[in-house]
Amino acid sequence: MPRSVIAGSGAQIAPNRVSNDMLSRIMDTSDDWIRERSGIETRYFVDPGTATSDLGVGAARQALEDAGVDKDQVDLVVFATMTPDHYFPGSGALLQTKLGMKTVPCFDIRQQCVGFLFGLQLVDAHLRCGLAKTALLVGAEVHSGFMPFTPVGWDYLYGRSGTKPSQEEWDWNSRFRHLIVLFGDAGAAVVLKAQEGEAGILDQILHTDGADYDKLYVPGAGFKHRPYVSEEQIREGLTLPHMDGRYVFKMATTRMIEVIREILGRNQLGVDQVAMVLMHQANRRINEYVQKALGLPEEKVLHNIQRYGNTTAATIPLLLDESRRTGRLRSGDLVLMVAFGAGMSWGATLVRV
Ligand code: ACO
Repeated sequence: MPRSVIAGSGAQIAPNRVSNDMLSRIMDTSDDWIRERSGIETRYFVDPGTATSDLGVGAARQALEDAGVDKDQVDLVVFATMTPDHYFPGSGALLQTKLGMKTVPCFDIRQQCVGFLFGLQLVDAHLRCGLAKTALLVGAEVHSGFMPFTPVGWDYLYGRSGTKPSQEEWDWNSRFRHLIVLFGDAGAAVVLKAQEGEAGILDQILHTDGADYDKLYVPGAGFKHRPYVSEEQIREGLTLPHMDGRYVFKMATTRMIEVIREILGRNQLGVDQVAMVLMHQANRRINEYVQKALGLPEEKVLHNIQRYGNTTAATIPLLLDESRRTGRLRSGDLVLMVAFGAGMSWGATLVRV
């Protein structure tokens, strides 16, 4: 049976760099607090009108070029996002038409921070059983749509206007400060090919436990409500994510440690045999906790949250792309990817590159 080999990767970062100090212009927060609690220094936001599919297209073009694959060779698209361009259809269909691809099937998947790993399993199943030969897997997010700022707030944040937001707006932004400071916009993509040999995806473990779904979710803007979105929901902040940060922190560390042990154990591998661990970038403190608990050496764990913040489905492919482009990954290396996120879902993937 062939394996799913990562043949190319690419990334597209949003154009507007926003530092912690810039955020502190429009809400009650500080560079010190954000760095200390999350490790984040900057994040990037798109301009209005740029959608998740656009970041996905930029990343996909690079990944196709890197893999030396023509768009017409791709026979499967999987697009992981929790911030699609529209409620429906999915962003995969928009990416397909923007790239001028053939009428290949496009899946959109909604596993949030673990979307890329769920996408890898979906692609792997298709490639190994011969349903597809070349797949494009994209993880992309435009989180800036979740930011509660008004146009006055956005302009003051960027220094494009001297008009300060009102006290009411300051208070409203500050109400969501524990969330706002964590997220950024980005897209990343990989091309996978079915190939015989030693390289490729070796093993994957995915889990979901919906019992505590409401510890991290968007309460409004859903078809449980009639109408599915209303002015009242917007006024009460129910169209923005709600998060029990301490619970998420605790579960992320517990589940990521568990699943790393599970996948290494069933493959009879020690940490020393893994060349690099790519962890979802939600909070640097989460990852440092996991790193310490498992005795992972510093040089094996890559972080880029300080630059991009949490880009949800894009974090792991972004790290992967960076490590390939900077030469940190060498052919034959064993790479472990691990993530935890809303659902709650979590998982791990073992790949020989
Ligand atoms: N700036 C300044 N102060 C803040 C901010 C902010 N941005 N946010 C919260 N605070 C204040 C709170 O109001 C509180 O003040 P109080 O003591 O006067 O009441 C104080 O800081 C402590 O707040 P906590 O929420 O208890 O802070 P905590 O240490 O738990 O850190 C954080 C919050 C960073 C959100 C942390 O819980 C966390 O990272 N959790 C994981 C969340 C996560 O990763 N989410 C990403 C999505 S899911 C995923 O990708 C896995």
